[in-house]
Amino acid sequence: MPVGARPPHLEARASGPPRGGASRGRRWIAPLAVLLCLGAAPVSAEIGDGARRSEPITPIAPALFPPKPQAELGRRLFNDTGLSGDGSVSCASCHPLAKGGMDGRARSVGVGGQLGVINAPTVFNSALQFAQFWDARASDVRAQVDGPLLDPREMGTDWKRVIAYLESDERYRAAFKEHYDGARRIEPRHVRDAIGSFVETLVTPGSPFDRWLQGDDDALSAEQLAGYGRFKSLGCVACHQGVAVGGNMLQRFGILGDYFADRGTPIEKADMGRFNVTRDEADRHRFKVPSLRNVAVTAPYFHDGSAATLEDAVRVMIKYQLGRRATDDDIRLLVAFLESLTGEWGGQPVGGGEGR
Ligand code: HEC
Ligand code: HEC
Repeated sequence: MPVGARPPHLEARASGPPRGGASRGRRWIAPLAVLLCLGAAPVSAEIGDGARRSEPITPIAPALFPPKPQAELGRRLFNDTGLSGDGSVSCASCHPLAKGGMDGRARSVGVGGQLGVINAPTVFNSALQFAQFWDARASDVRAQVDGPLLDPREMGTDWKRVIAYLESDERYRAAFKEHYDGARRIEPRHVRDAIGSFVETLVTPGSPFDRWLQGDDDALSAEQLAGYGRFKSLGCVACHQGVAVGGNMLQRFGILGDYFADRGTPIEKADMGRFNVTRDEADRHRFKVPSLRNVAVTAPYFHDGSAATLEDAVRVMIKYQLGRRATDDDIRLLVAFLESLTGEWGGQPVGGGEGR
């Protein structure tokens, strides 16, 4: 088989006989033969426990971030509007956990009802990414905390006010003392660590796709499986890959077409992407490739919130990132696959049971 051909085991499984039943064992023979002749990664492990270890996407292991004792304090901070300049906005205002970890708006509303400049991504699984924000300007979920707190349009405060507020609260004083080596003063780094420790707990294992990766043959519908085949054969996986199905590289938005010219609205600072950080021409319109986990419940899409539905977003990707004309079949199957990326948090499907 030529290198780079469409992975035949997926196509075979997607169009094969009805799932389940006695044929399941036999249906593995052809795929295994293919894996063997390709010399693909740990074949013995695939036989042993059924886990699909040679896929470009890996499941979320529940123990990825063992919860730290500070996470509970972080949860309280995350939900406390008292941290914001006018006492009206918390992290949860823009990242409501019962609604997919984002506000469902193209642009968020911060203190004083001000409109933000860029779409709010979900906080779920953000800790799995190589960096935070659309332009990857913060290295991790602790360094990220200063962004929303100090942004005049988001929480509109400063560290002096935040610390004074926390110091004035007996329970916060006791909790910080307990978790940070009896520190006599609450410091910004303690606040960053507590919130970051909580955000690290916001991972969502258990999606149908992860269950399939872990060896559950019945976790995906034939349509979803075929959609995953397209995701790989069309080339989506070149950018959206790894444990977060994205979140591990920067790429230009509009590689094979001028997305921004076609959008028809003026180019704003936020559209510059990574360029705003580096001032390097090569970074113009480069963004962090977003994670696609839970993407079925996190509309609207893109840094500008311009795509209202998953169908719209997938159509744009096929045109501007892959330079192809999308067929209705591509869209339908890819969306079905993306719907299989909705995981669980707190024992519930992310997004309050919408999607799957
Ligand atoms: C007013 C709305 C608003 C508030 C309040 C807010 N955020 Fe955000 N959040 C956003 C927006 C918008 C972005 C994207 C900013 C960017 O990329 O430049 C974002 C990005 C993030 C990211 C990065 C996600 C990613 O995929 O890159 C994390 C993590 C995050 N916020 C956590 C928090 C925490 C923790 C707080 C509270 C300290 C908070 N946010 C408060 C709107 C908000
Ligand atoms: C060359 C890299 C690249 C390829 C290939 C690619 N993407 Fe993307 N994808 C991106 C980037 C970069 C963004 C963020 C664009 C923006 O908002 O600025 C994105 C955003 C998305 C979003 C929106 C996510 C959100 O939360 O806003 C979806 C959905 C998506 N891609 C799906 C796909 C699918 C399906 C394919 C294959 C048909 C694909 N992508 C191919 C780089 C890529």
